[in-house]
Amino acid sequence: MELFEKLINYNTLLNNDANKELLEKYTEIIQAEYIHFIPAVRFDSALFLRLFAMLTKPRNILEIGFGSGVSSYFIAEQLYEVDNFVSLERDTARYERGKKIISQFNMNTVNLIHCDALEYLSNDDTMYDFIFIDAGKNDYTKYLHLIKDKLVTSGILICDNTFFNANVVKEESDIQKNHIKPTHSMKEFNTYLANLKCFNTSFFVVGDGMSLSIKI
Ligand SMILES: C[S@@+](CC[C@H](N)C(=O)[O-])C[C@H]1O[C@@H](n2cnc3c(N)ncnc32)[C@H](O)[C@@H]1O
Repeated sequence: MELFEKLINYNTLLNNDANKELLEKYTEIIQAEYIHFIPAVRFDSALFLRLFAMLTKPRNILEIGFGSGVSSYFIAEQLYEVDNFVSLERDTARYERGKKIISQFNMNTVNLIHCDALEYLSNDDTMYDFIFIDAGKNDYTKYLHLIKDKLVTSGILICDNTFFNANVVKEESDIQKNHIKPTHSMKEFNTYLANLKCFNTSFFVVGDGMSLSIKI
């Protein structure tokens, strides 16, 4: 276990050293337009998203959970031909802040929509080739039901928080009380996703745990 933690730290140092400018941008976005508490993907997860966006060059992107705007920024950063990039955020303060962040950081391709994703996606028949889920943990399985037929064949699905602070491998007695329900939800979600026949999925020890699936 100690060796594993050392590896994680080593990996963090490698990432941070090799990507100083991106790390600065990451920090800048989080610190811009202060509001009380703003959640964001971790830096290595942001790099992971950027890498897979660069690899797959999606044109129709859906993000559930704009939060700080960091993940949108890193997905969009190297994409020069985007037809449709929709990011959903239900929190009003984060949405208002997000509008400013989008113009401040030239994220012109991102169409930030103030809504509840569950409602929005129930009435959306757009097809996407890249979907990123990073919103309420208790609802991941619901999001998955709503998006699985909206992803084109060979499209990419990435989900954050799949290991949820390592809670998914802890004894229940070691989990903070208010994390017990979301931990159950994430475990249920991971098992469901891993066994879904319309996706090939792998789980990665990146950030808070990330899954990467391809639609088959
Ligand atoms: C962990 S944060 C997203 C972080 C973001 N990806 C980033 O890198 O900055 C999750 C966000 O999802 C939003 N959210 C949660 N449930 C939602 C829903 N049903 N519809 C829309 N947004 C939702 C929350 O308000 C929160 O801002």
